[in-house]
Amino acid sequence: MAKAWMKSDWRAKPRVQMPDYPDQAAVSAVEAQLGHLPPLVFAGEARRLKADLAKAAKGEAFLLQGGDCAESFTEFSADNLRDTFKVMLQMAIVLTWGAKVPVIKVGRMAGQFAKPRSAPTEMIGGVEYPSYRGDIINGFEATEAARTPDPTRMLTAYTQAAASLNLLRAFSTGGFADIHRVQSWIAGFTDEDEAARYREVAERISDAMEFMAAAGVTSETAHELAAVDFYTSHEALLLEYEEAMCRIDSTTGLPVAGSGHMLWIGDRTRQVDGAHVEFCRGVQNPIGLKCGPSTTEEDLKVLMAKLNPENEAGRLTLIARFGAGKVEDHLPRLIRTVEAEGAEVVWSCDPMHGNTIKSASGFKTRPFESVLREVREFFAVHKAEGTIPGGVHFEMTGKDVTECTGGVRAVSDEDLSSRYHTACDPRLNASQSLELAFLVAEELQDRRAMKKAAAAAV
Ligand code: PEP
Ligand code: CO
Repeated sequence: MAKAWMKSDWRAKPRVQMPDYPDQAAVSAVEAQLGHLPPLVFAGEARRLKADLAKAAKGEAFLLQGGDCAESFTEFSADNLRDTFKVMLQMAIVLTWGAKVPVIKVGRMAGQFAKPRSAPTEMIGGVEYPSYRGDIINGFEATEAARTPDPTRMLTAYTQAAASLNLLRAFSTGGFADIHRVQSWIAGFTDEDEAARYREVAERISDAMEFMAAAGVTSETAHELAAVDFYTSHEALLLEYEEAMCRIDSTTGLPVAGSGHMLWIGDRTRQVDGAHVEFCRGVQNPIGLKCGPSTTEEDLKVLMAKLNPENEAGRLTLIARFGAGKVEDHLPRLIRTVEAEGAEVVWSCDPMHGNTIKSASGFKTRPFESVLREVREFFAVHKAEGTIPGGVHFEMTGKDVTECTGGVRAVSDEDLSSRYHTACDPRLNASQSLELAFLVAEELQDRRAMKKAAAAAV
């Protein structure tokens, strides 16, 4: 019999993108402390998300995953959380209208603190510093002291994640998520932006709501209209933290990550024999796997077998992130690999990470047009292959930042400097996020038409 998986097995595997802590005893002390703290999420919730995602794999639900590239300790506030949560709910309503299926809402929130970097060091003002790796590892400030990995940051991250989750849970059930309220926010957006095509969708959503209310379905009579399920996710990058937060699910007796509902493996840490795959394969949560241009068919085959040996629907979400203009080169070959294996996956589209450029003004940015183009290409390839586009994955915020260029309230190159607040990659602002939701909703209507046509043909 194969040896049972242990949460520390990753330690024997090659590790990449993780810090070398100068003081191992201090790391062990923090791990012991985290090991005694309550998990942030309950195993039953992770199981429920998995069941929801199993529906997305079949086209009976749609995944909306979004939030900061990197959460930070200094940008942490109730307002920031509320605004991102609010925009995600708005987007979800628009997507529900387009897809006519439930939208699964998963935040890159309450745990998205560790970042892979392209180089171990960076030059700032002519001085070389260790790269910033996210607030759970080191500080953003350009000093040797701030950039030195500090294990006690794991405890601060845990506390911030717990406080964030507490507020998100309150927003989800405390009346803030009432569908009538969300619907009125959407109407507000379209008035300001004079985008006739969005206004039309918003009006049709309002009509549907009025019809339901007239038929007696309101947030007072139907709990579903007053509350939402909202899940959390982050990249499982800092394995010392993930191992310390791993718990045994008392219902199944199986290991589960206690740090968030869904974990994903980044494009830079998905080595088939690496530490990150080794850790993630053993926990029961839904797992995301980023697939970039360098993902080979053979690697994908092995990764699917390792991460989802039972071929359980909802366990594995493949997050395609190739870049606009490159989807056609890579997505068909990976879709065909999945189909040939008969693998159950959710296909999601991350149109952010393949579209990062340096603007003329020197800022890291993403043109809205490229983001949109990659989404369209993703849907087009699925249509051509006869497979299901199951979700989207965005870096976004509810704030009115100027980090990505373009959109209806056009952000220009020169605007970038005015409100560029991200701790890492450029995010869509509230208006760009909602605009994208309208555009994805149009693609989803097309997906629905295809499903109907297929059903009629049977
Ligand atoms: C991310 O999602 O923030 C990220 C780093 O993505 P990727 O691994 O796809 O580059
Ligand atoms: Co990012």
